[in-house]
Amino acid sequence: MTKREQWSSKTGFILAAAGSAVGLGNIWKFPYIAGENGGAAFLFIYLICILAIGLPILNVEILLGRETQKNPVGAFKAIHGDNSNWKYVGALGVFASFTILSFYSIVGGWSVAYTIEALKGTFASFPNPEVAGEFFNLKNSNPYWVLGYHTIFFLSIIGIILSGVKGGLEKASKFLMPVLLLILFALVVNGLMLPDSDKGMEFLFSPDWSKINPSTFLLALGHAFFTLSLGMGAMMTYGSYLSDNDDIVNASYMVAFLDTVIAILAGVAIFTVVFSSGYDPTAGPGLVFHVLPPLLAQLPGGYIFAFLFFLLLTIAAVTSGISILEVSVSYLVDELKFSRKKATMIMGALVYLAAIPCALSFNLLSDATIPIQGKAFTFFDVADFLASNILLPLGGFFIAIFAGYVWSIDSTVKALLKGNSESLYFGNSILNSSTSKTIFGLLIKYLSPVLIFLVFLYQFGWI
Ligand code: TRP
Repeated sequence: MTKREQWSSKTGFILAAAGSAVGLGNIWKFPYIAGENGGAAFLFIYLICILAIGLPILNVEILLGRETQKNPVGAFKAIHGDNSNWKYVGALGVFASFTILSFYSIVGGWSVAYTIEALKGTFASFPNPEVAGEFFNLKNSNPYWVLGYHTIFFLSIIGIILSGVKGGLEKASKFLMPVLLLILFALVVNGLMLPDSDKGMEFLFSPDWSKINPSTFLLALGHAFFTLSLGMGAMMTYGSYLSDNDDIVNASYMVAFLDTVIAILAGVAIFTVVFSSGYDPTAGPGLVFHVLPPLLAQLPGGYIFAFLFFLLLTIAAVTSGISILEVSVSYLVDELKFSRKKATMIMGALVYLAAIPCALSFNLLSDATIPIQGKAFTFFDVADFLASNILLPLGGFFIAIFAGYVWSIDSTVKALLKGNSESLYFGNSILNSSTSKTIFGLLIKYLSPVLIFLVFLYQFGWI
């Protein structure tokens, strides 16, 4: 048997995992949901969800991968036996990887398309976001346009995955993540120098508590899962390429920290521009594709900033997209002993096909909707809803139960600390090992499952 591939270093892993975490969720989704839900008030709730639920589950996911050196299905089988029903939690993850990538890749395609439009200078001719919105809708009404860019985005992901863990996933992240950070800094500095940028900062950092209600928690929790790539075994799969002596606790901090900082910086880059032009920050999903292009293009140096912004979005989407597909690919490689090439081709083709209805949601299939929570959902909306509101929290719920009750907190913590961390929090200087273990146990055994469960009840109107 060929030896399982591994990351070349812990930094390689951190960059790849951060690459997975930092994605459209940070740059496209986070700013608009924060904008619609009370700015800093949302940020506050979101940070709690990241710290109290996201981080412990991130630890557990990476750990399950590292301990078993397997894909999500194989990981549960390795710990709980081949016939255990827990393997279906892994299978849920493989299914979620289809669902997520099928809409993610459409937005990834838009990002590629807009990077090219920025290069062509298209945005300079938009007088305002309304015209930009019409352009967006017009382009999307052409199925070939959507499908074409979806295909380009998809092929780039396949290309990276085909090159393997070190040569593909790690190499791409090592190169792209620093580029992403540089671009983001340039955009933030540019934004902060604009007139009225303080209004944008105030919007993001001063809380509007009146916007907070139970559904804000649902949104914040769902987004915490999405943004940290949790609940479907993506971090498990990345963790499975780690070796026993890699420090998971530290790596998780780094990943969650980078992810959160980058989301906030993206918010700064976007809202400073939006406010300095006097626009509505609550523009919803269209914020990035309708509102920003004309606003960016009208700034001094706008041509370059518009290009940089969409390049940033594309990079973020690519490094996340690869982690989503890698779950399914590693499943075929481990469980059915396929070669990486064969697995990538087969899963790639299947996911590509699954995405087609999402691509057609904006044109040929725009009338094919089903009602969910009183709204008409297209295939695209259904895929997003199913993944973010159902599959990921469900996966997270079972992962917490597994670590807390089946595998037990003792074994989980013991395994977590194997990579030489002394304490789960703050390296023993503030909390000693046993207190940190108690806190971790409370979070994983009680808080996470209970909150996730409540969110479920709430979203189906049962409470
Ligand atoms: N975290 C990514 C983002 O914020 C998306 C993502 C990548 C993801 N891999 C995932 C989401 C696995 C859920 C599960 O855009």
